[in-house]
Amino acid sequence: MAEQPERAAGKASPHESARKHVCGSARYIDDLPVMPGMAHIATGKSPHPHARITHLDLEHVRRYPGVLDVVTQADIPGKVDVAPVFDGDPLLAGEVVEFVGQPVFAVAAVSMEVAQRAVAEARIGYEPLPAQLSIEDALAADAHVLPPHEMRMGDVSAEISAAPQRLNGELYVRGQEHFYLEGQVGQAEPTEDGGIHVIASTQHPTEIQHLVAEVLDIPFNRVVAEVRRMGGGFGGKETQAGPIACMTALFAHRLGRSVRYRMPRRDDMVQTGKRHDFLNRWSVGFDDQGVIHGLDLMLAGKCGYSADLSQGIVDRAMFHADNAYFLNTARIEGLRCRTHTVSNTAFRGFGGPQGMMAIETVIEDIARATGQDPLDVRKRNLYSPGRDETPYGQTVEQHVLPELVERLEADSDYRGRRAGIEAFNQKHRYLKKGLALTPVKFGISFTVKHLNQAGALLQLYTDGSLMINHGGTEMGQGLFTKVQQVVASEFGVSRDQVMVTSTRTDKIPNTSATAASSGSDLNGMAARDACQRVRGVLCEFAASEFGVEPDAVRFERGLVVIGEREWTLGEFAELAYTHRVPLFATGFYRTPKIHYNREEGKGRPFFYYANGAAVSEVTVDTATGEYRVERVDILHDVGDSLNPAIDIGQIEGGFVQGMGWLTTEELLWDNQGRVISNSPSNYKIPTAGDVPADFRVSLYDRPNNEETIYLSKAVGEPPLMLAISVWAALRDACAATTRYRFSPRLDTPATPERVYWALRECETFNLEGHSGGHG
Ligand code: MTE
Ligand code: MOS
Repeated sequence: MAEQPERAAGKASPHESARKHVCGSARYIDDLPVMPGMAHIATGKSPHPHARITHLDLEHVRRYPGVLDVVTQADIPGKVDVAPVFDGDPLLAGEVVEFVGQPVFAVAAVSMEVAQRAVAEARIGYEPLPAQLSIEDALAADAHVLPPHEMRMGDVSAEISAAPQRLNGELYVRGQEHFYLEGQVGQAEPTEDGGIHVIASTQHPTEIQHLVAEVLDIPFNRVVAEVRRMGGGFGGKETQAGPIACMTALFAHRLGRSVRYRMPRRDDMVQTGKRHDFLNRWSVGFDDQGVIHGLDLMLAGKCGYSADLSQGIVDRAMFHADNAYFLNTARIEGLRCRTHTVSNTAFRGFGGPQGMMAIETVIEDIARATGQDPLDVRKRNLYSPGRDETPYGQTVEQHVLPELVERLEADSDYRGRRAGIEAFNQKHRYLKKGLALTPVKFGISFTVKHLNQAGALLQLYTDGSLMINHGGTEMGQGLFTKVQQVVASEFGVSRDQVMVTSTRTDKIPNTSATAASSGSDLNGMAARDACQRVRGVLCEFAASEFGVEPDAVRFERGLVVIGEREWTLGEFAELAYTHRVPLFATGFYRTPKIHYNREEGKGRPFFYYANGAAVSEVTVDTATGEYRVERVDILHDVGDSLNPAIDIGQIEGGFVQGMGWLTTEELLWDNQGRVISNSPSNYKIPTAGDVPADFRVSLYDRPNNEETIYLSKAVGEPPLMLAISVWAALRDACAATTRYRFSPRLDTPATPERVYWALRECETFNLEGHSGGHG
């Protein structure tokens, strides 16, 4: 076929909705016009973490003026369970409630305010039951939402006992609230034939379609789920949008009118799942140089009351418990703890970040035990040729990190600044600076193989404008922009000639969630396939019409070119149309090479790895634990970037979100199982003022060695984990007070309070006679 298309792809160009986002003309669901007679929803919620419902009287709710309908579990015509994979998530509770905030009944009324006031009229009796609220409770009760799972490589017990040095440790890594700017919201419209059109804020339109159909007991083909964009998803709209959509559909079906449910933020923060807390415990064997001989690790995730996506999430924590390091031998155990709290769910990194925190802690403890700079221990343990087997049997083939880390170390002047910091720390009694470089290696692909597929539909109109539809969803990450660039590149036209339209289950069926950072890998390839099919048909038409070889046709500069002759794409499309040539095609893509045997814990779950590293510098006030992030340098591997501007935006945003997770965002429950970090006033996400003043982000320019879309790499999640460098720098500053001989425990988030207590631990270490002299 034709030669290399002109590359709209690869250019740093703005997000397709950037202007609309800024002007306020980008429509989110709650911006859509209110339909006449539209109903609004509120739910009645359990005040207990675990209780039996003894009495349910909703008469006063029903009679409240303005109430249109009230439903309980018994009113659901079809399936009650709206769980994504394993059963266990009733749309409305049955006889037993299993977390504070669980919806027990739902009200539709003429306005949201009326619905909320009516809810308060319910009379419900509960008999409280014993509740496990923490990971420790669940471990003690042996309570799991799914069976434990293990990965093994070599004889780890033997290697650890034989190793010259050994350490044990434990770290608690707290979860995270998604805090998408647009909260959970959905709208449903009854259609003829008993169907429903749902407009959802979801990363997974197909799942919404299926759940709505199952709840209403109607075939899938009666339901259309549509999403133009989300105001942020971050994993929190992979499964959690399901119940919202189902609730709107249920009322729309019963009332025969359109229904909107915009969940108030205070409900959203209580009723929807978050990032899993993890309790990580290990023992590690290593030599005097700090090279790891074996790691025995337990990763226990706080799943909440049901499985949701915890199978995959804890698996991904296990898959990333090596991060970038060759472990030699390993046993990695993943536990899925059942607690009477909201069911935790996907969040950027999908368990990977929590797994990585374990090994990064281990590496630093080894550094302190062997008297080395943690960077040297990190470098010594990086995967490299010959030391390239992961605990799950995949071989690391493209060794990006050794060189990337060297380059970042040099570009950020790590060694020079380390010396400067030592001088600073000697001079200042209370202020201590910390510095850390941490790498990220993140596996790209869904670890459930069949999810790695995508479809697209390309339409060429006779004016030369193109429309592309694909199964991926836009949540601000720039997927639509990237797919638009791919289509423009394939036809050699400019981006504005290509429309990317809302994701709809009646256009592309059976789609996977936009998740696992694979959106552009999958949908970009599917879109390209569709483009190539349409181009192929046009080339064959040209061959028969003009007697040239099909590959003599070129699509470039907005034109179709055959030898000396040129047409605009519109002229050529019109010509082809009059010759009865189809100007549309579907495209499909499935990721090659991947396979994984979960029983054995061996295979090649990932098509490739995305890599990066960050250097963070912090200053800590050791009297109070307060700190500031002074400077951050990032070098990140996105292969051949599809759009450097979007990719840098993802890196900056991911990093800052990760920094929030590890420093200020403290997700707290009280001893009654109630979320007490339930509003922006008691849950602190980073703001513009928290972005490091000196923030330097560069792309590591090296193509993917696997055949991805234009040799790019996924970028959505991996940069979040670069923020581990901030946590590591804080710990470094604490360790500085012991002249780097002691590695204090620093659970996350490392709030000033936790840093303060880590510093007191360092003080105790010094007082216990380890401070002797300056030898
Ligand atoms: N970026 C923005 N602006 N908003 C989001 O909600 N979600 C993240 C990441 N970047 C998110 C984001 C998550 S969790 C994932 S999995 C990816 O985007 C999904 O999109 P992609 O596969 O197209 O990268
Ligand atoms: Mo992202 S956590 O895979 O939606």
